[in-house]
Amino acid sequence: MEILVTGGLGYIGSHVATLLIEAGMEVLIIDNLANTRIEVLDGIESITGKRPYFKEMDVCDSEGMAQLVAEHPNLKGVIHFAAHKSVNESIAQPIEYYENNLGGLNQLLKISTQQSIPFIFSSSCTVYGQAEKMPIREDDPLKKAISPYGNTKRIGEEIIQDCCKAFENFNAVLLRYFNPIGAHESAKIGEYPRGVPQNLVPFLTQTVIGKYSKLRVFGSDYPTKDGTCIRDYIHVMDLAQAHIASLNYLLNKQNSENCEVFNVGTGKGVSVLELIYLFEKATGEKVPYVLSNPREGDTIEAYADATKIKEKMGWQAKYSIEEALQSAWKWEVKLKG
Ligand code: WQD
Repeated sequence: MEILVTGGLGYIGSHVATLLIEAGMEVLIIDNLANTRIEVLDGIESITGKRPYFKEMDVCDSEGMAQLVAEHPNLKGVIHFAAHKSVNESIAQPIEYYENNLGGLNQLLKISTQQSIPFIFSSSCTVYGQAEKMPIREDDPLKKAISPYGNTKRIGEEIIQDCCKAFENFNAVLLRYFNPIGAHESAKIGEYPRGVPQNLVPFLTQTVIGKYSKLRVFGSDYPTKDGTCIRDYIHVMDLAQAHIASLNYLLNKQNSENCEVFNVGTGKGVSVLELIYLFEKATGEKVPYVLSNPREGDTIEAYADATKIKEKMGWQAKYSIEEALQSAWKWEVKLKG
């Protein structure tokens, strides 16, 4: 049972690849190493005892992809992570984002639709923009994306939906991630943010470890319980498990339609100040922070209604946010070493 994981050395991809191997599946990883390091492969091997097939290549490389598929005629699933993912970078480089994220997706869809290979797409809650009501449901209206990155997720979902209409034997699951945080409990794999981390938890852990003097809390006058933004922070291991559940859901033909969308979150909203407090409680470390101006483009509140994936696949988040934050800190300490 060979499963192709594109971007499989990335943050989410490497945790999914690890669980797939532990579930007894043959994993093929392709990654262009644009936003990760080859050492992640050693981490996966160290955890699972198996070194998955790896080829350094770009999903946009049509010849390379054709050759890969010819060499592996028994692909039973594609899990597609390979894409650029920085909101800010996408605003500065829209063409690169549309070309890479949508070009790569199209390349994979040519293969998956021709061979009716089940397809799992890494989407994002960003497609909802600022939702009117909480928790956010899959059938809530989508909003115009605030960034080219978010737009590539929105357009990517539409391309896949059109492919499912055109090819009745092609089946796909679109997973709308909320905010992934943390790392594998072994601290052998985790997130390698490039440069200054844009996301809250890696910036927080790098501040606590001493790389930065203070964490800036972007905005403290929002209409929320404590004035700071609210998000649905999900342990990356829970998120990874949702991909295994989705793959089994498609392989066992349990899907009622050939394109289904699922939120993947805990269903709980946590504010920035609450997260800081929970981190301090979970690790015993002090977080130096300062209340700062709001960040352009931030939504005020976003947390998932995750009942659909529970009802259809039996998946629900199991880790607490404290466990996720402890794993994030353990990973940061490991990186420093
Ligand atoms: C969370 C909260 C910030 C940094 C982004 C992408 C989304 C997805 C997840 C890919 C916000 C606040 C942050 C800091 C802060 N990525 N914050 N100080 O923006 O919800 O989502 O990452 O799929 O598509 O948009 O996550 O971690 O950047 O921010 O106060 O130094 O933390 O304002 O309220 P976000 P985030």
